[in-house]
Amino acid sequence: MSIPNPGRIEPVLWDDWHPVAELAALRHGRRLDTGLLGRPLTVTLRADGAIDACSGPHALPHLDTRYGFVWACLGAPVRDIVKFAAADEPDRIPVTGGSMAVAASGLRAVENFLDLGHLGYVHQGYLGEEPHTDIKPYTVGPREGGGIRATGCRVYQPRPSPADTSGYEVDYIYEVHRPYIVVLYKANPVDRTRMDLIALLLQPVSEESCVAHSFMSYPPHDVNEKSVRGFQQLIFGQDRPILENQLPKRLPLDAKAEISVRADSSSAHYRRWLSQLGVRFGAIPQAPA
Ligand SMILES: [Fe+2]
Repeated sequence: MSIPNPGRIEPVLWDDWHPVAELAALRHGRRLDTGLLGRPLTVTLRADGAIDACSGPHALPHLDTRYGFVWACLGAPVRDIVKFAAADEPDRIPVTGGSMAVAASGLRAVENFLDLGHLGYVHQGYLGEEPHTDIKPYTVGPREGGGIRATGCRVYQPRPSPADTSGYEVDYIYEVHRPYIVVLYKANPVDRTRMDLIALLLQPVSEESCVAHSFMSYPPHDVNEKSVRGFQQLIFGQDRPILENQLPKRLPLDAKAEISVRADSSSAHYRRWLSQLGVRFGAIPQAPA
């Protein structure tokens, strides 16, 4: 039985999988109350280790785990939970970065994650630094398998990861896989021929609120899980007030609707792609021409 969809949320979101809880945050016999696509959601880790979820009186028929998170689909799943090919390399170390509630649309959080321009200001001293704040040209286009992909991004970073405190130019590749799922690949500070994977998995709670979950996967170089989590939370803690102060809280898909739109190619591609997909939840759709 599927969950009633009185708000007629678009199938591209309703019939897809979304992260709803970090496995490590669940306690035996305790309920975790959250929400998904405007519906209440309760996740319970039973004493026997099984995970249940319900939305009001309705048990969720589609529930699974991947990358250290519980994933749910409220409708009829038409595809699998998102999969990052690099995370399957056998020697990689997976780390979850925890979950943070944000009072803004998850689409805003994806756009902010894609924005190279904010690194030198919002994450000054960590992911960027003045005067190295100009963004060199990069390429954005469709991603094979759906979504968008930005390549050739080069960013000067004073402290690119918990494993590295010396600054240099870092190669970035961004991929948006689903409307609320975005991943960044950046050159590993120890072995620069391999890429660290940092995925931001947004749980659309309401149109104007989300939970930002993060998942990382690193080549095997002295990864300290605790310091990685701490670093991730520090960085996202710098983003959260910026996101929560943006108005409107939903993401306008009409590029002209927002004068403050940065001269940012990724952002423009992202908004256009969301429009083409017909994403409305968390967005202010483009006015008909
Ligand atoms: Fe940021």
